[in-house]
Amino acid sequence: MSRLVVVANRVPLGDGSRSPPGGLAVALQETLAAEGGLWFGWSGRVVAGPAGELQQRKAGAITFATLDLSRIDHGEYYTGFANRCLWPAFHYRVDLATDCGRNFDGYIRVNRLFARKLLPLLDRDDDIWVHDYHLIPMGEILREAGAHHRIGFFLHTPLPAAEILVTIPAHERLMRALCAYDLVGFQTAGDLRAFHDYVRYEAGGEVLADGTVRAYGRICRADVFPIGLDVDNIVAAGEAAMDSPSLRRLRDSLQGREMIIGVDRLDYSKGLIERFRAIETFLEIYAASRNRVAFLQIAPPSRAEVPEYREIRRQLEGEAGRINGQFGEPDRVPLHYLNRSFRRTTLAGYFRLSRAALVTPLRDGMNLVAKEFVAAQDAEDPGVLILSRFAGAARQLSAAVIVNPYDTRAVADAIHRAIAMSGGERKERWGDMMKAVRGYDIARWRNDFLAGLRGPAGAGAAAT
Ligand code: ADP
Ligand code: F6P
Repeated sequence: MSRLVVVANRVPLGDGSRSPPGGLAVALQETLAAEGGLWFGWSGRVVAGPAGELQQRKAGAITFATLDLSRIDHGEYYTGFANRCLWPAFHYRVDLATDCGRNFDGYIRVNRLFARKLLPLLDRDDDIWVHDYHLIPMGEILREAGAHHRIGFFLHTPLPAAEILVTIPAHERLMRALCAYDLVGFQTAGDLRAFHDYVRYEAGGEVLADGTVRAYGRICRADVFPIGLDVDNIVAAGEAAMDSPSLRRLRDSLQGREMIIGVDRLDYSKGLIERFRAIETFLEIYAASRNRVAFLQIAPPSRAEVPEYREIRRQLEGEAGRINGQFGEPDRVPLHYLNRSFRRTTLAGYFRLSRAALVTPLRDGMNLVAKEFVAAQDAEDPGVLILSRFAGAARQLSAAVIVNPYDTRAVADAIHRAIAMSGGERKERWGDMMKAVRGYDIARWRNDFLAGLRGPAGAGAAAT
């Protein structure tokens, strides 16, 4: 079988240290552990001089090949274009997409640098799978350099509606680059629809009944592959964690209260300000239930070099302090707010201990936390998932309590409903959700995508 080469901005160090929080790293770790292969990308380090030499390390079946970035490259490619243009625009925050003009050249330059360093590592028969918005031009650049491999691309974020996409000055370059892949994967049917709309109405291309797209003189295929979990792993982690000392300590600290958990990278797309307001509204309106619940929000800092992320962190610290100042007692506070990473096994235990989870992003490609919460539950006494309609996961987890995260009163009501929900209803909802989580797990995601890429129509062709 051909070797799989994964290209992604984020690569764990491969030295046994913890994976960085983020859906991409978690999913790819599981994919490559099963397939074996090469994982190529940024080392996560920024160096004072020019971009560093390629470093390679083998861990089990995976070879990690990483590159340090220079300050300028990191600033223009990662902080600038990827995270102050594409990330906000793809999450419908056009108001925060402030770096779309000036950093596009840096974005292309680093994509070229990655391609240049990757090419000598490729074998003839490799299949290349490029991931996420940092590397959209990579396939086109590899093709221009003569790579004849099958090259696929998966977008972990939403693809916004064409009206939003066209606000990015380089939209045509980006969409043309997407069409250079053999197969483009999206998280939801809505993302695929946005792509098709752009192809039809902006690019003047066509979408054929079999999913083939013709645009810019190219042919590619695009489809939906909703990312999933290594379910058994999370189930086992949830069960095993229940007897751990840290779980026991947390359980004791609850003093008989029910725990409601949130776990998110500290990102404005996760709707944390709105969530804290909903918690405040709940504490105000449902005063009789105040002493029945404790909220735990875990939010590891993310992209701290981007000013908008520092600002949201500052705001959340203020909000958490204000809520605890208003509703706390000398011996307990309603909201525990922690900015750090945990082992995935520990998180699974926290999920299992919780009566409910608040997963209320304002926009999210999928949201693996929602699925992890479901997988970690005790089948006999499952918790309730309160899920934003704007998370990709809501397409599959329709048995969650679905909310509009902008409607703080509705989220407060959902919290109340979750703590009052009967065991029977909780089990029924959880059973439906677990079926969906198991039905499309990480193996299915990986196998479907790779089968699509390696299938008969897999080799990329220029339209004639
Ligand atoms: P995103 O990719 O936008 O960060 P997801 O919810 O899809 O959102 O993925 C986040 C992943 O990171 C999940 O697998 C989650 O368990 C993990 N994660 C989030 N917060 C933490 C944390 N504090 N410690 C460890 N892992 C975390
Ligand atoms: O899943 C979305 C995503 O942007 C991934 O691409 C990324 O690895 C993760 O979130 C964490 O972000 P970052 O790599 O910028 O720390």
